Amino acid sequence: MTKTLHYRNCQVQVCADLPHLSTAAAQQCVRQISAAIEARGVCHLALAGGSTPKALYALLAEPAYAQQIAWDRLHVYFGDERYVPHDTPESNYNMARAVLLDKVALPVANIHPIPTAAGDARHDAQTYAVLLERNLPVHNHVPVFDLVLLGMGEDGHTASLFPDTPVLNATEQSVAAVYVEKLASWRISLTLPVLNAAQCVMFIVSGSSKASMLRRVFTDTSAQQVPIQRVRPAHACYWYLDAAAAAELTP
Ligand code: 6PG
Repeated sequence: MTKTLHYRNCQVQVCADLPHLSTAAAQQCVRQISAAIEARGVCHLALAGGSTPKALYALLAEPAYAQQIAWDRLHVYFGDERYVPHDTPESNYNMARAVLLDKVALPVANIHPIPTAAGDARHDAQTYAVLLERNLPVHNHVPVFDLVLLGMGEDGHTASLFPDTPVLNATEQSVAAVYVEKLASWRISLTLPVLNAAQCVMFIVSGSSKASMLRRVFTDTSAQQVPIQRVRPAHACYWYLDAAAAAELTP
């Protein structure tokens, strides 16, 4: 059973649990990918990292969904990446390969991991920015994705836009490197202008540990905004929540 709410210009779907959330999100992904290919001949998709989207990605690799996607017209990118080798468990690219990319008929040339091998995160971030500006349509100097998938951390971060980090103000860059003190590690992330320019943004949030932050995100109108509140997509926006994550929300 899915309950639909609204938040800002976004449609919020509250599903019973993670499997139902993943099914609803997979159906929306197929719709958005197909619409982009229909309209522009190609779909540029940025994947979220973390663990929540794994079930969604596994569904997209299943024939019931995979057969609906024109993989040769789809280009896959990443919303952010941990600054680690691509063959390590922490890598978002490594995760996506295992559950999706290595299981579908996506041409290798259509897969665009964030580079992490230069030994300098800022250099790799700039390399990725150049790739985006070359591959994607650009509007007002900002590359425009057709679909961006995003998760949310308990602190209100999304992609690798963590609270109180300089990357939140990197409005002149489409991709930025950031050293995250609390993780003691470097990250590379799409910046807010890119997330906000996307044709469609889908947030995917699951679990009771996210409930109190979600309540804050949906109700707190104070100036002290957490990073995910600063993602205000100019176009289509969807939230896919499970009941546990939405437990503190009121219609
Ligand atoms: C990452 C993600 C990050 C993630 C959130 C939520 O690299 O980890 O991009 O932004 O989406 O931390 O992660 P979970 O879905 O695993 O809770």
